[in-house]
Amino acid sequence: MEKSTIINELEKNIKLCTKCRLCKTAKNPVPGEGYINSKIVFIGEAPGKVEDDTGRPFVGRAGKLLEELLKGINLKREMVWIGNIIKHRPPENRDPLPDEISACEPYLTMQLKAINPILIVTLGRFSLNYFYPEGKITRDRGTLIRVGKYNVYPVYHPAAALRNAQMAETLRKDFMNIPSILEKAENTKYEEADIPIHDGQLGLGL
Ligand code: URA
Repeated sequence: MEKSTIINELEKNIKLCTKCRLCKTAKNPVPGEGYINSKIVFIGEAPGKVEDDTGRPFVGRAGKLLEELLKGINLKREMVWIGNIIKHRPPENRDPLPDEISACEPYLTMQLKAINPILIVTLGRFSLNYFYPEGKITRDRGTLIRVGKYNVYPVYHPAAALRNAQMAETLRKDFMNIPSILEKAENTKYEEADIPIHDGQLGLGL
Protein backbone atom coordinates (compact mmCIF):
# COMPACT_ATOMS: atom_id res chain seq x y z
CA MET A 1 0.00 0.00 0.00
CA GLU A 2 1.18 3.56 -0.72
CA LYS A 3 2.66 5.48 2.17
CA SER A 4 0.14 8.32 1.74
CA THR A 5 -2.76 5.83 1.74
CA ILE A 6 -1.55 4.30 5.01
CA ILE A 7 -1.13 7.73 6.61
CA ASN A 8 -4.59 8.85 5.41
CA GLU A 9 -6.20 5.63 6.64
CA LEU A 10 -4.55 6.05 10.03
CA GLU A 11 -5.77 9.64 10.17
CA LYS A 12 -9.34 8.47 9.48
CA ASN A 13 -9.05 5.86 12.23
CA ILE A 14 -7.64 8.38 14.69
CA LYS A 15 -10.51 10.76 13.93
CA LEU A 16 -13.01 8.01 14.78
CA CYS A 17 -11.08 6.63 17.73
CA THR A 18 -12.96 5.92 20.95
CA LYS A 19 -10.42 3.52 22.46
CA CYS A 20 -9.91 5.61 25.59
CA ARG A 21 -11.73 8.25 27.64
CA LEU A 22 -9.87 11.21 26.12
CA CYS A 23 -12.12 11.30 23.05
CA LYS A 24 -15.02 12.28 25.36
CA THR A 25 -13.38 15.46 26.64
CA ALA A 26 -11.26 16.52 23.66
CA LYS A 27 -12.71 18.78 20.94
CA ASN A 28 -10.59 17.47 18.07
CA PRO A 29 -8.15 14.63 17.53
CA VAL A 30 -4.64 15.70 16.48
CA PRO A 31 -3.26 12.93 14.24
CA GLY A 32 -0.05 14.72 13.23
CA GLU A 33 0.91 16.48 10.00
CA GLY A 34 3.68 17.32 7.61
CA TYR A 35 5.88 15.83 4.94
CA ILE A 36 5.56 12.06 5.06
CA ASN A 37 8.80 11.52 3.15
CA SER A 38 10.78 13.59 5.65
CA LYS A 39 13.97 12.08 7.04
CA ILE A 40 13.21 13.75 10.39
CA VAL A 41 10.08 13.56 12.54
CA PHE A 42 9.38 15.54 15.72
CA ILE A 43 7.34 13.80 18.39
CA GLY A 44 5.75 15.66 21.30
CA GLU A 45 3.57 14.47 24.16
CA ALA A 46 -0.07 15.33 23.62
CA PRO A 47 -2.15 18.16 22.17
CA GLY A 48 -2.59 21.28 24.26
CA LYS A 49 -5.48 23.75 24.11
CA VAL A 50 -4.77 25.38 20.75
CA GLU A 51 -3.99 22.00 19.19
CA ASP A 52 -7.28 20.66 20.55
CA ASP A 53 -9.11 23.68 19.12
CA THR A 54 -7.56 23.29 15.67
CA GLY A 55 -6.77 19.57 15.28
CA ARG A 56 -3.16 20.46 14.40
CA PRO A 57 0.04 19.65 16.35
CA PHE A 58 2.26 22.35 17.83
CA VAL A 59 0.31 25.42 16.82
CA GLY A 60 0.29 27.17 20.21
CA ARG A 61 3.18 29.02 21.88
CA ALA A 62 5.38 25.91 22.03
CA GLY A 63 4.67 25.42 18.32
CA LYS A 64 5.80 28.97 17.51
CA LEU A 65 9.09 28.26 19.29
CA LEU A 66 9.41 24.96 17.43
CA GLU A 67 8.95 26.81 14.12
CA GLU A 68 11.60 29.34 15.11
CA LEU A 69 14.01 26.54 16.03
CA LEU A 70 13.30 24.80 12.72
CA LYS A 71 14.01 28.05 10.88
CA GLY A 72 17.43 28.14 12.58
CA ILE A 73 18.33 24.93 10.73
CA ASN A 74 16.73 26.03 7.47
CA LEU A 75 13.61 23.94 7.85
CA LYS A 76 9.94 24.84 7.74
CA ARG A 77 7.30 22.84 9.56
CA GLU A 78 5.83 21.58 6.29
CA MET A 79 9.23 20.10 5.38
CA VAL A 80 9.15 17.68 8.35
CA TRP A 81 6.54 15.49 10.02
CA ILE A 82 5.27 16.57 13.45
CA GLY A 83 3.18 14.36 15.70
CA ASN A 84 2.40 13.39 19.25
CA ILE A 85 2.26 10.20 21.26
CA ILE A 86 -1.28 10.93 22.41
CA LYS A 87 -3.78 12.07 19.78
CA HIS A 88 -6.48 13.56 22.02
CA ARG A 89 -5.87 16.31 24.58
CA PRO A 90 -5.88 15.14 28.20
CA PRO A 91 -8.19 17.37 30.30
CA GLU A 92 -6.38 20.42 31.72
CA ASN A 93 -3.21 19.09 30.04
CA ARG A 94 -2.76 16.47 32.74
CA ASP A 95 -0.22 13.69 32.12
CA PRO A 96 -1.61 10.89 29.97
CA LEU A 97 -2.47 7.72 31.93
CA PRO A 98 -0.85 4.36 31.14
CA ASP A 99 -4.04 2.90 29.57
CA GLU A 100 -4.40 6.01 27.38
CA ILE A 101 -0.81 5.62 26.23
CA SER A 102 -1.32 1.95 25.34
CA ALA A 103 -4.62 2.67 23.57
CA CYS A 104 -2.93 5.31 21.40
CA GLU A 105 0.36 3.49 20.86
CA PRO A 106 -0.54 1.55 17.68
CA TYR A 107 -1.22 4.81 15.83
CA LEU A 108 2.24 6.26 16.29
CA THR A 109 3.83 2.86 15.74
CA MET A 110 2.07 2.57 12.38
CA GLN A 111 2.69 6.20 11.45
CA LEU A 112 6.42 5.74 12.08
CA LYS A 113 6.47 2.45 10.22
CA ALA A 114 4.92 4.13 7.19
CA ILE A 115 7.07 7.28 7.31
CA ASN A 116 10.22 5.31 8.19
CA PRO A 117 12.24 8.36 9.24
CA ILE A 118 15.98 8.33 9.70
CA LEU A 119 15.79 10.48 12.83
CA ILE A 120 13.13 10.80 15.52
CA VAL A 121 13.54 13.98 17.54
CA THR A 122 11.70 13.49 20.83
CA LEU A 123 10.42 16.68 22.40
CA GLY A 124 10.56 16.45 26.19
CA ARG A 125 10.86 13.78 28.85
CA PHE A 126 7.59 12.05 28.15
CA SER A 127 8.38 11.43 24.49
CA LEU A 128 11.94 10.29 25.32
CA ASN A 129 10.63 7.79 27.88
CA TYR A 130 8.03 6.47 25.46
CA PHE A 131 10.83 5.29 23.18
CA TYR A 132 13.49 4.72 25.80
CA PRO A 133 12.00 4.08 29.25
CA GLU A 134 15.36 4.25 31.04
CA GLY A 135 16.17 7.56 29.41
CA LYS A 136 16.83 10.67 31.49
CA ILE A 137 16.16 13.90 29.68
CA THR A 138 18.84 15.92 31.52
CA ARG A 139 21.45 13.24 30.85
CA ASP A 140 20.46 12.06 27.38
CA ARG A 141 19.32 15.26 25.65
CA GLY A 142 21.51 16.17 22.75
CA THR A 143 22.76 12.60 22.23
CA LEU A 144 21.85 10.10 19.55
CA ILE A 145 20.24 6.92 20.86
CA ARG A 146 19.44 3.76 18.92
CA VAL A 147 16.04 2.33 19.81
CA GLY A 148 15.43 -0.85 17.86
CA LYS A 149 15.82 0.20 14.23
CA TYR A 150 15.24 3.89 14.94
CA ASN A 151 17.61 6.70 15.77
CA VAL A 152 16.21 8.85 18.56
CA TYR A 153 17.52 12.32 19.40
CA PRO A 154 16.02 13.67 22.62
CA VAL A 155 15.77 17.40 23.25
CA TYR A 156 13.93 19.48 25.84
CA HIS A 157 10.27 20.25 25.20
CA PRO A 158 9.75 23.74 23.71
CA ALA A 159 7.04 24.40 26.34
CA ALA A 160 9.62 23.79 29.09
CA ALA A 161 12.06 26.09 27.29
CA LEU A 162 9.42 28.84 27.34
CA ARG A 163 9.49 28.68 31.13
CA ASN A 164 13.24 28.40 31.63
CA ALA A 165 15.88 30.51 29.85
CA GLN A 166 18.69 28.05 30.43
CA MET A 167 16.67 25.19 28.98
CA ALA A 168 15.85 27.43 26.01
CA GLU A 169 19.55 27.99 25.42
CA THR A 170 20.27 24.26 25.59
CA LEU A 171 17.33 23.47 23.31
CA ARG A 172 18.66 25.98 20.77
CA LYS A 173 22.12 24.40 20.85
CA ASP A 174 20.70 20.88 20.53
CA PHE A 175 18.57 22.00 17.58
CA MET A 176 21.57 23.51 15.82
CA ASN A 177 23.19 20.06 15.99
CA ILE A 178 20.27 18.33 14.26
CA PRO A 179 21.83 18.47 10.76
CA SER A 180 25.04 16.79 11.94
CA ILE A 181 23.07 14.31 14.07
CA LEU A 182 21.00 13.44 11.00
CA GLU A 183 24.17 12.82 9.05
CA LYS A 184 25.49 10.64 11.85
CA ALA A 185 22.15 8.79 12.01
CA GLU A 186 22.22 8.20 8.25
CA ASN A 187 25.65 6.68 8.57
CA THR A 188 24.91 4.63 11.66
CA LYS A 189 21.40 3.46 10.86
CA TYR A 190 22.39 -0.17 10.97
CA GLU A 191 25.44 0.22 13.12
CA GLU A 192 26.16 1.56 16.57
CA ALA A 193 25.04 4.84 18.03
CA ASP A 194 26.24 6.44 21.26
CA ILE A 195 24.24 4.34 23.65
CA PRO A 196 23.92 0.57 23.35
CA ILE A 197 20.92 -0.49 21.31
CA HIS A 198 17.76 -0.42 23.34
CA ASP A 199 15.22 -3.01 22.29
CA GLY A 200 12.13 -1.04 23.18
CA GLN A 201 9.84 -2.16 25.95
CA LEU A 202 6.52 -0.77 24.95
CA GLY A 203 5.71 -3.32 22.31
CA LEU A 204 6.43 -0.61 19.78
CA GLY A 205 7.48 -3.14 17.19
CA LEU A 206 10.43 -0.90 16.44
N1 URA B 1 2.82 20.09 23.33
C1 URA B 1 2.93 18.85 22.80
O1 URA B 1 3.59 17.97 23.38
N2 URA B 1 2.32 18.61 21.65
C2 URA B 1 1.62 19.54 20.98
O2 URA B 1 1.10 19.23 19.90
C3 URA B 1 1.54 20.82 21.54
C4 URA B 1 2.15 21.08 22.71
